[in-house]
Amino acid sequence: MKTLIAYGTKHGCSQKCAMELSRELKDKIEIVNLRDKINIDLSKYDRVVLGGSVYIGRIQKEVTDFISGNLEELLKKEIGLFICGMQENDMIKKEINENFPAELINKAKTVKHFGGEFNFNKMNFMEKVIVKKVSKVTSDKSDILHDNIKKFAMDLNS
Ligand SMILES: Cc1cc2nc3c(=O)[nH]c(=O)nc-3n(C[C@H](O)[C@H](O)[C@H](O)COP(=O)(O)O)c2cc1C
Repeated sequence: MKTLIAYGTKHGCSQKCAMELSRELKDKIEIVNLRDKINIDLSKYDRVVLGGSVYIGRIQKEVTDFISGNLEELLKKEIGLFICGMQENDMIKKEINENFPAELINKAKTVKHFGGEFNFNKMNFMEKVIVKKVSKVTSDKSDILHDNIKKFAMDLNS
């Protein structure tokens, strides 16, 4: 089984989660940052994991573009979907439902929230203002859900 992990990221958390996931999976893995815009030959993979992080409700455009441009082929693969974000529970469910097409969510073997991080050094001025105002957080915070990454890998390995 050959697996592609294709992700979007702005500040690096989704990349960190993708790398952690790759260490938990049994198969041959290739990891691609969708911002690098390399040509991906999906026919090489049996399984595709797609994920990214949410900013003001939206996942990276390169993730949605990749999905919409390859939806038919993706629906023929084994699929895993993940999202990074600092919201919780119902808000995260809403973000998953709003950022991935319903048919891909229904096809997915596993869909999980991998948590997130606030890294103030990597935020621009406006991002800092938004985070301080909306989340009331004023310093770095890491809430990566390592158990969810493990469970995601177990679902795919089983
Ligand atoms: C300006 C800003 C807006 C954000 N908006 C959301 C949001 O709408 N929902 C959410 O769950 N997390 C939100 N987050 C948290 C990010 O998703 C979180 O920092 C994530 O770990 C970033 O992942 P990345 O480093 O892969 O880009 C926001 C963070 C920033 C800085």
